[in-house]
Amino acid sequence: MTTTTTGTEPARAPAAAAARLDAVRTVADLPSPKGVPLLGNMLQIKPDSMHRILEGWARDLGPIYRVDIGRRRSFLVVSDHEIFSTALRDRPEGYRRPPLSGELVREMGFDVGVFSANGDKWRRQRRMVMAGFDPRHLKAYFPALVHVTERFHGRWDRAARAGLDIDLQADLMRYTVDTIAGLAFGADVNTLESDDDVIQRHIDQIFPILWKRILAPFPMWRYYKTAADRRLDRSVHAVKDAIDGFIAQARARLQADPSLREHPNNLLEAMIAAADQGDSGLDDHDVAGNVLTMLLAGEDTTANTLAWMIHLLHANPETLARARDEVLRVTGTTGPFTLEQMSALDYVEACAHETMRLKPVAPLQAVESVTETMLGDVRIPAGTRIFGTVRHDSLLARYFPDPETFLPERWLADGHPGQAASSAKRVSMPFGAGPRMCPGRNLALLEMKMAMAMLLRHFDIERVATVDGGPVRELLAFTMAPYGLRMRLRVRD
Ligand code: HEM
Repeated sequence: MTTTTTGTEPARAPAAAAARLDAVRTVADLPSPKGVPLLGNMLQIKPDSMHRILEGWARDLGPIYRVDIGRRRSFLVVSDHEIFSTALRDRPEGYRRPPLSGELVREMGFDVGVFSANGDKWRRQRRMVMAGFDPRHLKAYFPALVHVTERFHGRWDRAARAGLDIDLQADLMRYTVDTIAGLAFGADVNTLESDDDVIQRHIDQIFPILWKRILAPFPMWRYYKTAADRRLDRSVHAVKDAIDGFIAQARARLQADPSLREHPNNLLEAMIAAADQGDSGLDDHDVAGNVLTMLLAGEDTTANTLAWMIHLLHANPETLARARDEVLRVTGTTGPFTLEQMSALDYVEACAHETMRLKPVAPLQAVESVTETMLGDVRIPAGTRIFGTVRHDSLLARYFPDPETFLPERWLADGHPGQAASSAKRVSMPFGAGPRMCPGRNLALLEMKMAMAMLLRHFDIERVATVDGGPVRELLAFTMAPYGLRMRLRVRD
């Protein structure tokens, strides 16, 4: 089989596509939602609900369709998990992360980390990052996680005793920032016990602006800076200073105790040790880019998934009771949590998987073709941008019976949720798939189990609701968050 190529790189034809060449479509043949002349669908795309718009069109237009943003900025949307996962798995050769996010991160003044890197740079950075996520090291980081979770307990205990409403998402962000800073960098930023949460406030500026810029039809900020753009510049400076500080402290620790290179106490020490190896091809810019990446990739994702999980458990009291029974049976009512206890929380972990099926915080995942290739039955040129709407298939009864129901039991069907239901995980894909799958997934699951175990062991949830009492809205700003959830807790006797 041959394909022609439009770029300088040779055309690729994955074997799976060969059989379908008899009915090849081109991008121009694909269905597209009705738009307006010149602007196409541009005015229909609202950044904070883009995922729902694309999911809705997928129901009408089928597994692959085209969205036109002006004349030159079309992208494809794929809702079929099998087709989209062939693209995710065909990285880095066939597909890459769309370069735009990396360019915008660089333009903001940051170094680029593994999430945005492509090609050889990505390969080298991924090796360094994975050295930090080595399970042997994760064990060594565990005491830092226990420490942060105990502080988190203290914060919610004070709120419960004072009868105060908790701003759920904001508190969970403090938990995940403190965890990442402690665990990843050995830094005690302690936003949980301080109102002077400077670093967190600065980090929180970055994602929403990045998302807006990715979708902006015109790069206005390059010509005129609004107050928000100037605030971002100040935040970039503050975050960069903090990152330089983390790296300087870690280098000082490694110099004082060279054995840390073999047995690092945190992810940053492990990354520096990996970068310092002669053939790594990496320097402190790569390390700095990945410190930022960990902060960004590890904060909102885990905090928002936890917020959704608490919301769903509160709405399903029987499920919540079963999760609490498991926590009390496994961990008792006192004493610090252990890694073994967390590994035994199968039902709580199943609740996390079920939450991510219904409320994936990355509901749109993006790739771009490196060369001309086949995607399903469509021949696509190099440089085609593609969004996968990963929730579409997760809500189909043929993959998940009674798909709208929150039913963690479905993840326990074949035993332990870690090994079980792997076919379900292949449909749901909350952490992506293939060689660029989220390296923080085990850490995220551990963090979520710790926070849920703390909550269920010590508190009854009196109320979880939006400020105005209305239904919870999904708000997309790079990750998908529940909008404005507040929680009231009661201390358990
Ligand atoms: C519930 C929590 C999380 C979710 C749902 C999540 C989801 C994702 C997704 C969908 C991707 C893209 C994967 C792909 O392209 O195939 C990703 C990549 C990534 N995630 Fe996560 N993530 C979570 C937590 C974390 C944490 C805690 C960290 C680190 C501290 C982390 C670090 C990363 C990094 C570094 C990448 C880029 C990997 C690469 O491009 O090679 N994530 N994550």
